[in-house]
Amino acid sequence: MTDIHIALLGFGTVGKGVYETIQTHQTRLKAILGKNVKVAGVLVTDVEKHQLQDDGVLLTSNFEDILNLPKLDIVIEAIIGKEPGFSYLKKSIERGCHIITANKEMFAYHGNELLEYASRFNVACGFEATVAGGIPAIQTIRTLLNVNKIERIEGIVNGTSNYILSKMRDEEVAFQTALQAAQELGYAEADPTNDIEGYDAFYKAMVLSQIAFGEQPEWQRVTRKGISAISHSHIQLFSEWGLRVKHVISLEKGPRGIRCSVKPVLVGPSHPLYSVDGVQNAISIDADIVGNITLQGPGAGKFPTASAIVEDLIQLNASQGSYFKQEENVRFKKDPQVQWVIL
Ligand code: HSE
Repeated sequence: MTDIHIALLGFGTVGKGVYETIQTHQTRLKAILGKNVKVAGVLVTDVEKHQLQDDGVLLTSNFEDILNLPKLDIVIEAIIGKEPGFSYLKKSIERGCHIITANKEMFAYHGNELLEYASRFNVACGFEATVAGGIPAIQTIRTLLNVNKIERIEGIVNGTSNYILSKMRDEEVAFQTALQAAQELGYAEADPTNDIEGYDAFYKAMVLSQIAFGEQPEWQRVTRKGISAISHSHIQLFSEWGLRVKHVISLEKGPRGIRCSVKPVLVGPSHPLYSVDGVQNAISIDADIVGNITLQGPGAGKFPTASAIVEDLIQLNASQGSYFKQEENVRFKKDPQVQWVIL
């Protein structure tokens, strides 16, 4: 029986979550896949700062060491920013590895290119973890697209912002106190600017748009605002009015293209996002046949995100490559000539 050899690029909250999940769920993974899943290598920025219990795992700060591993089937990337993640994944594809990424910024910029590249080398690309942590948002949209047309998507997709807004309201703490708590819990990025200024939600909205509508809106036409200007006293005032502030992405495809906004909005008790609190995310999808579907769940954190990555890993192997080659399921494309390979 052959094993599945994987490498982890990045060993922050998400990378550690994937590593631990694979270690603790060996029996279940083997039952599902009929193979052992082995972490062959882990790429970190500083090897001195990390220690792995398993001596058989290569711990390195040199990506070439990962590429040169004698056995490597899947490369999982959880690094911040467009680079070096994009270059590393392209090299992994060239080596013939399937890839899985949690990197929404990189994927919003380079998703099409990466999928085209994966297709050319006949490997798969999983990206469920790029949007809404543990919620299977991408999988759900792709399934709906088999028969439905997606009309509108609205959602809360940044766990840190939602956590901060909820904590300021419920515990009457200042913005900075709530942000610090989100960082300590591993929800916020190391540099939380992307979370609190709406960039993280913007990138996720672009990935959702690409999946749901086959294209992204022009970025400069998207309103993007974060929550950094919202204070505890604003929230108190909104509460007196019976309203809550939520950081919401909104996407709609009309005759004149895709309209998209990423901004704080005030919602009343009858709104579906009113009660989505803490690190929870929610995605509300309007589709022409099924109507409305709203998914809610943990949108950030170690294990919810790890769950999305391991789901991709299982999907990729269970399908033996056939699932992601079904052209009917492929929606992440701009050029009809190009057949993406997609999970
Ligand atoms: N910082 C992100 C968030 C992590 O708070 O939603 C999950 O993408």
